[in-house]
Amino acid sequence: METTSTFPPFVITAEIDAEADKRIAQYPDDKKRSAVLPLLHIIQHQFGFINKEATEWIAGKLGLEPMQVFEVVSFYPGFRESAPGKYHFRICRTLSCAMAGSAELMERICELTGIDRSNSDSHHNPVAVSPCGQWSVEYAECLASCGTGPVCLVNDDFHEAVAPEKAEALLNQYKG
Ligand code: FES
Repeated sequence: METTSTFPPFVITAEIDAEADKRIAQYPDDKKRSAVLPLLHIIQHQFGFINKEATEWIAGKLGLEPMQVFEVVSFYPGFRESAPGKYHFRICRTLSCAMAGSAELMERICELTGIDRSNSDSHHNPVAVSPCGQWSVEYAECLASCGTGPVCLVNDDFHEAVAPEKAEALLNQYKG
């Protein structure tokens, strides 16, 4: 399904290319392939997810096969292989937040947004998007605020003590 992503289409600008070159230059010549992680972060930050073109571009920059880049993407659940919605929720599911109700929070957000997570439980395809494309969710590991759970990130905004009954008020902050 087409989603309403607020991220730009995949176009490598001169600025992105220069930033990538700067990161690559930080590694010795025989360790350039280690720059794959910073380059993946640049791409995901810029475009929201890592697509096939991005994988091929990074491989070209580092003299690797695309499969060698894809292996890294698919290993780390923090890298997304599909586009998130306009507002992307990352809900902590580590112990303290789980005990404070993060699963119930996830359930409530999905219920309110119409998100179906039934196909997103795979470790490597964790993003589930609402039918309207505005909302998406994924679980995250400890977000380093264990005493104030459940916690979540909405895009780059950090929210603490989001009890499931506060889910609607939280969504209302982001409507539109
Ligand atoms: S367990 Fe959720 S922030 Fe650490």
